[in-house]
Amino acid sequence: TTNHRIALIPGDGIGAEVLPPAQLVLDVLGRRHGFSLSYTSYDWSCERYLREGAMMPADGIDQLRDKDAILLGAVGYPGVPDHVSLWGLLIPIRRSFRQYVNLRPIRVFEGIESPVRGARPGEVDFVVVRENMEGEYSEVGGRLNSGFPDEIAVQEAVFTRAGVTRVLDYAFTLASRRGGRLTSATKSNGIVHTMPFWDQLVAERAASFPQVAWDQEHIDALAAKFVLEPARFDVVVASNLFGDILSDLAAAVAGSIGVAPAANLNPERDFPSMFEPVHGSAPDIAGQGIANPLGAIWSAAMMLDHLGHPAAAKDITDAITSVLAKTDARTRDLGGTATTAEFTDKLIELL
Ligand code: NAD
Ligand code: IPM
Ligand code: MN
Repeated sequence: TTNHRIALIPGDGIGAEVLPPAQLVLDVLGRRHGFSLSYTSYDWSCERYLREGAMMPADGIDQLRDKDAILLGAVGYPGVPDHVSLWGLLIPIRRSFRQYVNLRPIRVFEGIESPVRGARPGEVDFVVVRENMEGEYSEVGGRLNSGFPDEIAVQEAVFTRAGVTRVLDYAFTLASRRGGRLTSATKSNGIVHTMPFWDQLVAERAASFPQVAWDQEHIDALAAKFVLEPARFDVVVASNLFGDILSDLAAAVAGSIGVAPAANLNPERDFPSMFEPVHGSAPDIAGQGIANPLGAIWSAAMMLDHLGHPAAAKDITDAITSVLAKTDARTRDLGGTATTAEFTDKLIELL
């Protein structure tokens, strides 16, 4: 049987509560589909930072290099500034392993009541393809932390032809395999210099994908359309920051950000890809055992797909569909009273 080496980074807060359910689900599928997963767990977290002064060891990235995939819960916790926890772990992993695609599917499942009137199950089913290495999340700039009136913070948005083109190629290819439609998130109407460049590259790449019908929407109007007409989207491609914001918005349209998964992909497979729920460590509910594990479980499905087990991945999304359609088990974010463990048990029964 094929064995896959998985790095597990539970991280902080509910990160550590949603990964065990994902592992339980993965174990069932390994037995059924004839593969195994061997896990190496890392305690890299804000707790580690407070104890040892770093989120991960100096050779942390090297420890992950030989893994087939990384499964991450969430990082960030009150008491450690977010720029420390994120630049100390999450962002270095995404960048070192050239995970330039952040794939974030959105689906309104039957049995979930969307806060958006008219967002019906089966009709809302799209993906946000988020550029994951450059753009507004650049390392160019700095902060003069003087405490005086001359204090200043500057961060340049960096868009490179190569960096934008490769994520567009991924998005157009995905659109050609899905519904054949692509929407580009832009902001070319104002005084932003980078977005007309982005638009030009979109138009250039579009010429190679005549089978894809594409358009572009200004990010502000697009945000409104996510709420007003979520059923019209198929593939939405966006810069790093725009994609970040759109993916939480889309997840809320689909009922809860607790359901949304993400795949940080290195499409060339030179390095491990990383799978993690879209949500963060949720300090407001951490430690209560009530977090929704679906985002992590669905992320695990995306991992199996990436590792070459599409049938096993589909078993997971089918079980998610069933548990929501056929039972009233729900965690609190979806209006229910089930704990993380109770909900996971129900899902595994249906798996
Ligand atoms: P968050 O996603 O942690 O929480 C936002 C809200 O959604 C909270 O009310 C929370 O209770 C709720 N929520 C989130 N996930 C849920 C789940 N699975 N089940 C039920 N409810 C859920 O976002 P935040 O509050 O902006 O950030 C908290 C911390 O997490 C910060 O330190 C932030 O930097 C970090 N963060 C990390 C990641 C990551 O590791 N990839 C992603 C986002 C935020
Ligand atoms: C996400 C998160 C991260 C991001 C933060 C925590 C840096 O919000 O994965 O969506 O913006 O990429
Ligand atoms: Mn986010």
